[in-house]
Amino acid sequence: VFGVGPQDAEVLFIGEGPGEQEDLKGEPFVGRGGKLLDDMLELIDLDRTKIYIANMVKCRPPKNRDPLETEQYACSEWLSRQIALLDPKLIVCLGRISAMKFIKPDFKITREHGQWFEVDGRRVMALYHPAALLRDPGKRPETFDDLKRLQAEIRAVCTPIDFKKRKGAILCFNSASSPFLTATGPSPLSRPRTPAPRTTTSATSTCGTGPTVSTSPRLMAGC
Ligand code: URA
Repeated sequence: VFGVGPQDAEVLFIGEGPGEQEDLKGEPFVGRGGKLLDDMLELIDLDRTKIYIANMVKCRPPKNRDPLETEQYACSEWLSRQIALLDPKLIVCLGRISAMKFIKPDFKITREHGQWFEVDGRRVMALYHPAALLRDPGKRPETFDDLKRLQAEIRAVCTPIDFKKRKGAILCFNSASSPFLTATGPSPLSRPRTPAPRTTTSATSTCGTGPTVSTSPRLMAGC
């Protein structure tokens, strides 16, 4: 399972290795974790047409175990060349294993997720792996904050996307209705959070359908 995405993508997501569904389909992140990843991307107006997704190892580790060092080493040249060809502005490591390889060997995902690191002149951050977010939905509110940090960085360093050419591109985020936060996990509103400044009320907004909750920042340009 080599990777997926446009060759001019400026953001590269790196997972661990394909699971069964990915192996069958030949595409990374197409199982349950992949669907959650799609939801996460949608929250910040990304999708698979705008980013590149690759894995550290290209073949499925038996029984979905963590890829061994030897397996990572065997596939490392593929990934190095993918990175060299793509030359992404930002790299997002999905999970601890990827972060330990691309950020630092003693990376602690529970403490350092969502932080930006400078690695070989490139900005790199790690998010919890979607599988971890499926296992523990309580981590989703933190991941939501990490995604906002990613979105801010994309806006700061990546080439702006031409929203006008994209059908349905003007989206607003409404955390109350986000499947990412409400499907199986607790609402971010159920735990204490620092309220974000409210810029507009949504009742008459042309963006989104439901009321925008007070802690939901307006994430999308043009909204
Ligand atoms: N987990 C990964 O790390 N990568 C995939 O492609 C699927 C599941």
